[in-house]
Amino acid sequence: KPRLFSGMQPSADSLQIGNYIGALLQWKEMQQTHDAVFCVVDLHAITVAQDPAKLREATRRTAAQYIAAGIDPEASILFVQSHVQAHAQLAWVLNTITGFGEAGRMIQFKDKSASQGADKTTVGLFTYPVLQAADILLYDTNVVPVGEDQRQHIELTRDLANRFNTRFGETFVLPETQIQKETAKIFDLQEPGNKMSKSASTDKGVVWLLEDPAKSAKKIMGATTDSDGSVRYDAAEKPGIANLLTMFSSLTGRDIPSLESEFGTGGYGTFKKALAEVVVETFTPIRDRALELLDDRAELDRILAGNADRAAEIADRTLATVYDRIGFLPRR
Ligand code: TYM
Repeated sequence: KPRLFSGMQPSADSLQIGNYIGALLQWKEMQQTHDAVFCVVDLHAITVAQDPAKLREATRRTAAQYIAAGIDPEASILFVQSHVQAHAQLAWVLNTITGFGEAGRMIQFKDKSASQGADKTTVGLFTYPVLQAADILLYDTNVVPVGEDQRQHIELTRDLANRFNTRFGETFVLPETQIQKETAKIFDLQEPGNKMSKSASTDKGVVWLLEDPAKSAKKIMGATTDSDGSVRYDAAEKPGIANLLTMFSSLTGRDIPSLESEFGTGGYGTFKKALAEVVVETFTPIRDRALELLDDRAELDRILAGNADRAAEIADRTLATVYDRIGFLPRR
């Protein structure tokens, strides 16, 4: 089976619906046909300041949401990044073959650093994509399912793999990016020009997987739309409605034309109400299951420890090859 690798940052109490539609839905499907490795990337999360107690909690909560959303921690590997030493170690090596200018061209870095200013921006944030490349390359990954915002980071990963292979001999597999076109980007409910994000400015624009479902329904009902009145997909002219149609379609598996013909002239209220019901139906069982898993921390931690061992077995092998190719003296 081809190897799949992907991950999410534990940077909030809960994942948001964009993480679910843009990533988790594909992960769940693809784990049937792939040898899948899923990571909670806590080393990445600390590239912006985190409260230690909250980080620990968010890491457990993120893992619980993976499982609740359908990731099987026995068939797949589900682990916490900081539990496997090789990630930080390979990242260091890759840092030494990454151009300063090359790293500086990463759009996500430019956006994040612009919004917080040069003195708050850490060197860790700058090399964030290099750590991401290490994650992927340690596991001989064939495919990386992500949302659109991660495309450039996977391209950098391929460039670094290629460069290392050319300099030191065939070592890394070149990974392919897999982006589900229609659901690659879910937008903020209040500001449909912006990507929905765990770090959004207003809570009203974000649907959280672990919030009270009634609250999610209210946010859908209050989503920004337009005054045209017809439910049809037009991302340029009607970004709010287009975003709601994307959500509806991806959560139900129904295609957009069938939704347009059902809801087209019935008014936005009816359409939003139907979507709110879908959201409540989808996320109530996921939330219940995640909270249940979080009730038994010892068991969750035990699952994560076992999975870290499985991940380390693969990662350590790759790192040993890399150290050898580079010319590090073996300890012994
Ligand atoms: P993160 O935690 O920002 O997001 C996790 C995944 O969710 C997708 N996503 C979205 N998709 C659609 N619409 C949205 N509004 C939306 N918001 C987030 C992201 O594209 C991503 O797939 N750098 C990564 C984490 C990472 C990783 C990796 C991913 C670290 N190492 C190795 C793949 C492979 C990140 O910040 O994800």
